[in-house]
Order: sequence, then C-alpha cells, then structure tokens
Amino acid sequence: MIKTIGLRKVYNNDYEAVKHLDLNVGRGDIYGFLGPNGAGKTTTIRMLTGLIEPTEGMVFFNDREVSKGKQELKNNIGVLPESHGYYEWMTGKQYLLFFASLYGMNKASRIQRTNDVLEMVDLTEKANIRIHQYSRGMKQRLGIARTLLHEPQIIFLDEPTLGLDPQGQKDIENILVQLNKEQGVTIFITSHLLKDIERICNRVAIVQRGSLLVEDTIPSLLTTYEAMIEKENVNLEDVFFFLTDEKRGESKHDL
Ligand SMILES: Nc1ncnc2c1ncn2[C@@H]1O[C@H](COP(=O)(O)OP(=O)(O)OP(=O)(O)O)[C@@H](O)[C@H]1O
Ligand SMILES: [Mg+2]
Repeated sequence: MIKTIGLRKVYNNDYEAVKHLDLNVGRGDIYGFLGPNGAGKTTTIRMLTGLIEPTEGMVFFNDREVSKGKQELKNNIGVLPESHGYYEWMTGKQYLLFFASLYGMNKASRIQRTNDVLEMVDLTEKANIRIHQYSRGMKQRLGIARTLLHEPQIIFLDEPTLGLDPQGQKDIENILVQLNKEQGVTIFITSHLLKDIERICNRVAIVQRGSLLVEDTIPSLLTTYEAMIEKENVNLEDVFFFLTDEKRGESKHDL
C-alpha cells in the first residue's frame, strides 16, 4: 500500500534526519515503525503523509507516486501526530462533527459517521462531555476517532500511547486490533513499547540515526536473530537491543 524508495530528509541543508529509506507497508498490516529517540520516525511519518517534502526519494501509495496525487493520498489516509491539541471547550461529539464538516460530508453522514467512530473507540458514553474533562487516554481515543472520520485506508499513529497508564495503553491496543480486523484499516504505528508492538503488529521496521536496520514480519525476524542472540525465547525487545546500540551505549552489531 505504501512503498518508499530512497526516502531522504535533510533539515536546514545540514542535518540528515532520514537517510535512504526503502519501506514496504502492505494492505492490512499493523506495521510497527521502531527506533530510538531521534531515529527519524516522526520525520518519516511527516514525509509519508505529505506534511513535509522529502529532500530525495519517492513515496508510492497504492503503486502511484504521491507527488502526482497528493489529494488522493490525503483523502485516503488519517494521521494522529506526535503532539497535537484539542479544542478543549468542545464535547467529543462536537469536535468530531466539526472535523467531519471540514471533510465536506453532508449533515446526515456527518452525524452517522461521528456516531460510528465514537463507537469504534469506545467513547459513545462520553460523547457529550467536554474534552477538558477527558483523561489523556480518552483524548488519544478521540484523536484516533478523528483520523477515521473519512474512512481512510491507512492511519498513521505517532506514539499514540505516550503517557498513558497500562489500562489506557491496553485500550488503545484493543481498539487498533479491532479496527484492523473488523474494518480492514491498515495501521502504521510508532511506539517505544516493544512488548505491545510485538503483540499487535505483524510487521516491523527498526530505524536508527535515519537508516533502516531491518524490515520484516515479527516471526521471521525472531527466527533470523534467534541463533545470533544466544538466548531462549528471543523477543522483539532482544532483537531491538541487538541491532541498535541503545543498551548501555554498546554497539553489538557493526552497522
Ligand atoms: N524541523 C526540524 N528541523 C531540524 N531538525 C529536526 C527537525 N525535526 C526533527 N529534527 C531532527 O531530526 C532527527 C530525527 O527527528 P524525529 O523527530 O524524526 O525522530 P523520532 O524518531 O521521531 O524521535 P522520537 O522517538 O524522540 O519521537 C532528530 O535529530 C531531530 O532533532
Ligand atoms: Mg517522534
């Protein structure tokens, strides 16, 4: 569904945040995009969603190059950015109706779709409460609901569980799995919670300092690195630490 070739971003003519990324996100994937702080994840999402221009490289959406069909891309994707504000004085329902009107939906479909997405993120009962009274978890769920309003094929979520308690994390996790299974939404997610990613994603990419270290399905990734990691029941976190030099600053792998 999404394919990049040689995607690169240089900020201010001197800082290469993303270096030649070749990514492949398949239809129906829950795709985990992982990497240490500063690896270039948010920068990549911003390029994939047309928010910033790549310095070099190409992005394809359903085999069509994005620069030739930006509007088509925008009509078919939803984005929950890393940090974003809400109109806190609105109720959850008013907020969604407002965004639905920005998408140009007619009144009947605005109301119908708002009710549907509220249901999908389990906020129906809180729909008429003002957002300033929402917990952080509820706000994030509302943000996910907003990304779904125009029935996109894929949603990009940049650390949607950041700052949430374990229950809040679990709620988001369940919602994403359900959206993927029942509505067929493809999900591109970044997170530092590797255990959650391992549970919900079928495919992951690990980036470090702007470069792709690996992209694979989780079972295949675990099989590949099992022999090298010399540990029983190797998990995604083991592979992450093996490939990156995050742990105590050691580089275990010459990349
Ligand atoms: N607008 C900008 N101008 C200049 N440098 C930037 C800009 N945005 C990001 N960077 C730099 O690019 C690098 C990658 O940043 P990015 O935010 O993409 O990383 P990230 O993987 O999302 O990190 P995190 O896990 O902390 O969210 C960082 O070194 C960052 O300081
Ligand atoms: Mg980021």
